[in-house]
Amino acid sequence: MQDWTGVAGKRVIITGATRGIGLAAACELARRDARLSIVARSESRAGAAVTRITAAGGAGTEVQVLDADLSSQASVRTLAAEILAGHPRIDVLINNAGAIYGSRQLTVDGLELTWAVNHLAPFLLTNLLLERIRASAPARIITTSSGAHHGAHVPFDDMNAERGYRGRGFGRYGETKLANILFTVELARRLEGTGVTANCFHPGFVASGFNRNNGGLMAFGMSLARPFARSPEKGADTLVWLADSAEVSAESGGYFANRRRSMPSAAAQDLAVARRLWEVSEEQTGARAATAP
Ligand SMILES: NC(=O)c1ccc[n+]([C@@H]2O[C@H](COP(=O)([O-])OP(=O)(O)OC[C@H]3O[C@@H](n4cnc5c(N)ncnc54)[C@H](OP(=O)(O)O)[C@@H]3O)[C@@H](O)[C@H]2O)c1
Repeated sequence: MQDWTGVAGKRVIITGATRGIGLAAACELARRDARLSIVARSESRAGAAVTRITAAGGAGTEVQVLDADLSSQASVRTLAAEILAGHPRIDVLINNAGAIYGSRQLTVDGLELTWAVNHLAPFLLTNLLLERIRASAPARIITTSSGAHHGAHVPFDDMNAERGYRGRGFGRYGETKLANILFTVELARRLEGTGVTANCFHPGFVASGFNRNNGGLMAFGMSLARPFARSPEKGADTLVWLADSAEVSAESGGYFANRRRSMPSAAAQDLAVARRLWEVSEEQTGARAATAP
């Protein structure tokens, strides 16, 4: 198998690149000559992002926009079909889109929205693309998790948060970010020996569009916290490093922060839970993995 030579000339698919950490990462990856496909649900925000990314990448930068609302499984399936039709290779898949919702909402599939966007969308998209990613080895799958996973558990007895929307959304958000790590752990195990790595990371507390969708009070709170937050560029640094650097070629199943492999919570290291979550997620999405169980 070939050595990793960085993202230059490679097909990189990234979700959540219309703002915040994902946009900063896309700009830096364009600077490093990656061939980018960004997933976006809004034409106008996608257009603004493309302008920023092409300005960062300079002459010759081409950015493909893939239209999808990650809260809908039909939309994720259409997205995957479009990627597979358009790209014989997928070198890097970055599952970065995510959000927190202050009140419980259901998706068109009848699933709780935070879980659907933050965990099930990356799970489904990755599985639908997995055969192509495996055929593109060496290849990388990176998922944006969070330190907010600390203290969370996977609510196997209440997957749709019907018995209570935990912590005004913060508790629920933590469950989804824990799921990002457990997904990465189990994915890495299933991909052992294939040349495809799976890692996740915590970007730090970042001044982005995060939690600005939950009313004036939350947006005001985020503004107050802004002086203590990192820039999106700093938040994207570990993501870009995980995508680009040859240093991490042998790393898989890791949780990173500040370019260091870090120890997630005990709940995030439970292999039996990771396996069970995978099976439940297959049921929730109807996805069957192109990996050994
Ligand atoms: N900010 C932090 O302090 C922090 C800390 C730890 C982890 N994180 C994680 O970092 C990741 C990026 O967040 P951010 O801070 O950069 O927040 P952000 O500025 O709000 O960006 C979130 C991105 O996700 C996209 N997105 C959300 N829901 C979507 C949907 N249904 N379909 C398609 N795209 C959707 C947004 O698209 P639109 O432009 O269309 O809304 C946007 O591009 C998330 O996974 C978050 O959990 C953030």
